[in-house]
Amino acid sequence: MIVTIDGPAGAGKSTVARLVAEMLGISYLDSGAIYRTLTLACLERKVDIENEEEVLEVLESINLEFKEENRKGRKFFACYLNGRDVSEEIRTSEVSEAVSVVAKHKKVREKMLYYQHKFAHEHDVVCDGRDMGSFVFKDAEFKFFLTAHPSVRAERRYRELIEKGIKTTLEEVKENIIFRDTTDSNRDASPLVAAPDAIWIDTTELKPEEVAETIVSFVRKGMK
Ligand code: DC
Repeated sequence: MIVTIDGPAGAGKSTVARLVAEMLGISYLDSGAIYRTLTLACLERKVDIENEEEVLEVLESINLEFKEENRKGRKFFACYLNGRDVSEEIRTSEVSEAVSVVAKHKKVREKMLYYQHKFAHEHDVVCDGRDMGSFVFKDAEFKFFLTAHPSVRAERRYRELIEKGIKTTLEEVKENIIFRDTTDSNRDASPLVAAPDAIWIDTTELKPEEVAETIVSFVRKGMK
């Protein structure tokens, strides 16, 4: 089974997707983390991330692994770069600032399909991202698109980062969200867009648990 949850940064996708995966007893595929891991490799190699060929060269020379692990009693989407666990490192503001640029390249996106399809082939998944329902898993059984007011999205992201001990300001997070919304929505290769058959949920006034329950009830009804 594949459940897709797409939407802009800060719409609550990852928190909701994790909850839905737990409630349904299936796995969580974090597609943003896959792009973030490649971005970290590009930053470490100091390549020009605007240059598609340079990014592709990095992708071809590294070893990426994405595994489900059990951490603190919960399922966790772990990211490895050349055997090194980078699951925490990929959340820094340096990576957040660069990731939309890395993710806009068409050939890079094509190559990244492999990791997403592989993981979904091995597990039943709830996946979150920008093009899960519209492109990567067009045949998914259940598709959702989350939105929320931009100021609420920025505040959520800010709190999430502070809780993780990452230094930032609300202003910086707001600017990053606006930049990523624009880049992710306007790129040529599978831009952020809702699949025509996705169910829209505005999460501005909702708690993650409420959104997750709504999604799970749609899935359970659809499974009957
Ligand atoms: O979900 P996130 O904030 O971790 O995603 C980081 C970036 O990765 C996002 O700004 C755009 C890119 N991304 C993408 O292009 N396609 C996806 N399916 C997921 C993320």
